[in-house]
Amino acid sequence: MTVLIRPETPADVDAIHALTVAAFRDAEHTSHTEQFINDALRNAGQLTLSLVADDGDTVVGHVAISPVSLSDGSEGWFGLGPVSVLPERQGEGLGSRLIRQALDALRGQGAAGCVVLGNPDYYGRFGFRADPCLVLPDVPPEYFQAQAFGGPIPEASVSYHEAFNASA
Ligand SMILES: CC(C)(COP(=O)(O)OP(=O)(O)OC[C@H]1O[C@@H](n2cnc3c(N)ncnc32)[C@H](O)[C@@H]1OP(=O)(O)O)[C@@H](O)C(=O)NCCC(=O)NCCS
Repeated sequence: MTVLIRPETPADVDAIHALTVAAFRDAEHTSHTEQFINDALRNAGQLTLSLVADDGDTVVGHVAISPVSLSDGSEGWFGLGPVSVLPERQGEGLGSRLIRQALDALRGQGAAGCVVLGNPDYYGRFGFRADPCLVLPDVPPEYFQAQAFGGPIPEASVSYHEAFNASA
C-alpha cells in the first residue's frame, strides 16, 4: 500500500506517541522520553513541523522539527527529531522520506539551517555534517551535525527547547 507523508492532525496524536515508544524501545542512545518530548513540543507550540507516514490505516512513522536557539543570536535554525518508524516498518525508506520532506519544507519556509543529534552514518546522507563552529555542549561532537540552507554555519552554541527535558 502507498505510504503518504503528510502533516499531523489532532487525530494522529495518540498514534504518534505510541509509535515513538515502539520505535525507541530497543534503540541505542535513548532516554526513552522521546514520546514525551513530542507531546511537550506540541503543547508548547514548538512543533514547527510534525510529519507522519500514513499507510492508509496506520501511522507508521513520524518526524518532528522544532526551533533551536543559537548563542550568537542567529535566527532561523531548527532541530530535526525525534524521528521514529515502527520497528516492523524500518528499512523501507520511510525514515528517509520523512526526513527529506521535512528538510524540503524547512527550506521552503526560508529557514537558515537545521541541526540533528544522531548517528553520522545515517544523517550524513541527508546533508548533515559535524562542524566545529556549531556545538551542542556535553555531547560527542561527531554526533551533533548541521546543514545550512545557503548561508554560512554560525559559530555558536546550540540550545534545544526545554521540551527536550520532558520525562513524563
Ligand atoms: C532511525 C529510523 C527513523 C530510520 O528509519 P527507517 O525507515 O528505518 O530508515 P530508512 O529505511 O530510510 O533507511 C534505512 C537505512 O538507515 C540505516 N539506519 C537506521 N537506523 C540507523 C541508526 N540508528 N544508525 C545508523 N544507521 C541507521 C539502516 O542501516 C539503513 O541503511 P542502508 O540504507 O545503508 O541500508 C528508524 O530506524 C527508527 O525509528 N529507529 C529507532 C528510533 C531512532 O533511533 N531514531 C533516530 C534518533 S532521533
